[in-house]
Amino acid sequence: MKIGIIGGTGSIGEGMAMRFSQHHTVLIGSRDVQKAGECATECTRKLADRKIPCELSGCLNQEAIDRSEIIILAIPYAYVAPTLKDLRGLEGNIVVSPVNPMVKADYVYYAPPPEGSAGLAIRKLLPPAARLCVAFNTIAAGRWRDLESPLEYSVPVCSDDEEAKQQVMRLAESIPGIEALDGGPLRASSMVETLTPLLITLGMRNNRKDMGMRFISPQGGGNKG
Ligand SMILES: NC(=O)c1ccc[n+]([C@@H]2O[C@H](COP(=O)([O-])OP(=O)(O)OC[C@H]3O[C@@H](n4cnc5c(N)ncnc54)[C@H](OP(=O)(O)O)[C@@H]3O)[C@@H](O)[C@H]2O)c1
Repeated sequence: MKIGIIGGTGSIGEGMAMRFSQHHTVLIGSRDVQKAGECATECTRKLADRKIPCELSGCLNQEAIDRSEIIILAIPYAYVAPTLKDLRGLEGNIVVSPVNPMVKADYVYYAPPPEGSAGLAIRKLLPPAARLCVAFNTIAAGRWRDLESPLEYSVPVCSDDEEAKQQVMRLAESIPGIEALDGGPLRASSMVETLTPLLITLGMRNNRKDMGMRFISPQGGGNKG
């Protein structure tokens, strides 16, 4: 698959780029082509140091859209609307939102927009033909970037487009250790987005870094990679 990461130079974008580019072609998008190129070079170097081949390059956000099948919106919620306003060509593309709107106080709380979730708000900002999925909300950037450890986490995926959801679930499970789970329609996305403020609060208050989650059941399941 060809994956374009909008804001791919950021905390989660860089980590996703290093993980996905081992199995797919990845374009790190940015508002600044030089920053994107430097980030791609640095990610490639980190992988090469570990003798891991990758397909990775940097470009402007618009080019990442133009040359990819799956677009990941790896930018903070506050910048999503102004960023999407200036970008074109998302019709027919799968768009993935890992976006969690939240506020940090003495704990971190979920602060959804009036639509009910970032996913539902982003749906309104995208062209109707864009195929939106909410996914990858609960894996911390530090875990994506820690190339020595597998990502043994559950990834719930919410979408109103069942075919797009299946593709994103396959994308998630292309990373060894990740188990993708059908999280229901887009209107269920608030339940997924609110898990991350909980994980961060638990981490802050219990002195634990980069907390994540794996849902378990007696039937097991899971992706052993
Ligand atoms: N960090 C995590 O652990 C984590 C975990 C799960 C989900 N998420 C979600 O993933 C998303 C990205 O999080 P992050 O921590 O990676 O964010 P981040 O590092 O703060 O920023 C990501 C990128 O956003 C772009 N950006 C910054 N200011 C912008 C602006 N004014 N307009 C447009 N783009 C701007 C930058 O890319 P350029 O300067 O290159 O354009 C930046 O590298 C968030 O929605 C977050 O809720 C994060």
